[in-house]
Amino acid sequence: MAEHQAEPAHAKINLYLHVTSRRGDGYHLLDSLVVFAGVADLVSAAPADDLSLSITGPMGFGLAAGPDNLAWRAAGMLAQEAGIPARARLRLEKHLPLASGIGGGSADAAATLRALARLWALSIGTDDLARLALRLGADVPVCLRGQPARMQGIGEILRPAPKLAPAWMVLVNPGTEVSTPDVFKARAASGASFSPAPDLPAGWDDADAMAHALRGLSNDLEMPAIALCPAIDVVLAAIAGTPACLLARMSGSGATCFGLYASAGQAEAAATTLRRPGWWVWHGPMLG
Ligand code: C5P
Repeated sequence: MAEHQAEPAHAKINLYLHVTSRRGDGYHLLDSLVVFAGVADLVSAAPADDLSLSITGPMGFGLAAGPDNLAWRAAGMLAQEAGIPARARLRLEKHLPLASGIGGGSADAAATLRALARLWALSIGTDDLARLALRLGADVPVCLRGQPARMQGIGEILRPAPKLAPAWMVLVNPGTEVSTPDVFKARAASGASFSPAPDLPAGWDDADAMAHALRGLSNDLEMPAIALCPAIDVVLAAIAGTPACLLARMSGSGATCFGLYASAGQAEAAATTLRRPGWWVWHGPMLG
């Protein structure tokens, strides 16, 4: 058995998210450009005689460390797939806000799969691991890959992203958890129409051009999420009002929103003005 393994679980950001249709089973078909930000949870796995999970970190409070935790479920499913007992001491250092549209739970599950595949020296193929990831959640496959991607289907179709321009981000969460199923349900109940999958260029050379293209697209979950959590609108307006902000948008089903900037200094300056009691604010690079 390999020694102690550690894997970062980076925040997932949807630069745009179009809901293109709805399947018979109620799941929505999406088209989204997914990137990752420099902020991450950390999952580590060490040899042990049984399976355990402990949670630390500034955002760990209130997150159950039992069998319902997505990291625990990922471990159980991977062991079952491999036909071996689930034996590992998992530690999750939580830095990302919970239920916040940046895929924290999904990224933790993906990082757990990566760490345990190494710890248990499994020879499971990429496609099999991706199929297993999808059973854990629609965002887990893209988090498993950990690279910018054009995501379609319910999250299982991953194509290369256009070449991204260097950019910096501010992430702001108003401290309210938002339920993903509730947001999708609210959108379906509102009778909102579907959006097409846009044509994207092969890439963008600078952040201005990238933001210009993204401004013509949307996050179709923004309206229903704001209806459930009006603080999102306040966050979006605050981000949009920062100097040099190229784009202000919600990620995933919210409530975390991001601002896009052409330089690290601009993002840092924006983050400084966005701090409020109860708001989680992060600034740093968009990972290419
Ligand atoms: O797969 P995940 O657990 O992230 O999804 C949570 C819920 O969000 C699903 O049960 C479904 O109600 C909704 N959802 C959806 N279409 C997607 C992804 C999620 O309707 N593509």
